[in-house]
Amino acid sequence: MKVNVILSPNNVDDLYFNGKTTVVIDVLRATSVILKALDSRAKEVIPVSSIDFAMKISVNSHGGQTLLCGERNTQIIEGFDLGNSPAEFSEENVACKSVVLFTTNGTKAIVKAKYSEKVFIASFNNLSTLAEYLVQLENDIEIIASGANGIFCLEDTVCAGALVKLMLEKKSDIQLSDATNASLVLNEKYGSDIKEMLTNCEHGQILKANGFENDIEFCSIVDNIPLIPYFADGAIKLLKDEILDSNANN
Ligand code: MLT
Repeated sequence: MKVNVILSPNNVDDLYFNGKTTVVIDVLRATSVILKALDSRAKEVIPVSSIDFAMKISVNSHGGQTLLCGERNTQIIEGFDLGNSPAEFSEENVACKSVVLFTTNGTKAIVKAKYSEKVFIASFNNLSTLAEYLVQLENDIEIIASGANGIFCLEDTVCAGALVKLMLEKKSDIQLSDATNASLVLNEKYGSDIKEMLTNCEHGQILKANGFENDIEFCSIVDNIPLIPYFADGAIKLLKDEILDSNANN
């Protein structure tokens, strides 16, 4: 079993993912929001890579069962139902609804991974559950750190390192790429105080300046949502309990 961390989605093209098992991380805030939405019983999250496409999907939906959500420059987009703050994705707002989500980096990275055989969503909120599942799966894994506008970012790489560290605790003979080793080193340096790391990193500072401290707090919590979001056929849903159980018993 091999694990590679992709330090920016711009380092590879879409076809790179053909047949692979991929994990997408955008801690601040897209993948944390996806976990919150599904934990709040959203029917699904539909990640999109453009605002135009988000609008098109929502025009075709009827009966208020679809919510148009996301951000541009961290702020809710005009005419959208919700922005990109985890607290907005409460049961009251999203239960049983399809959430169409556009974000600057995170949803684009998920869409980029669409040719993968399997795509999972990770943040600090679901690390241990996903680590355990991936080790049982025994596939080679590509972890995308979504970064910022094609550039490396600290928080996604530290989260990738934290995920790999948990996997290594369960299976010590995983082969690691150089980028994966680098993510482990960064997690050693910054992973002991995740809230501080998220507050001080470049995107954390932008969120703080825009009044989103509560979002940083939520995104720093480890293992509060023990769920595995899975992207297939254009929508992110929860990996079903039966699949998790059958893997645990094998
Ligand atoms: C992104 O996809 O770049 C983020 O989720 C931006 C944010 O809302 O903070």
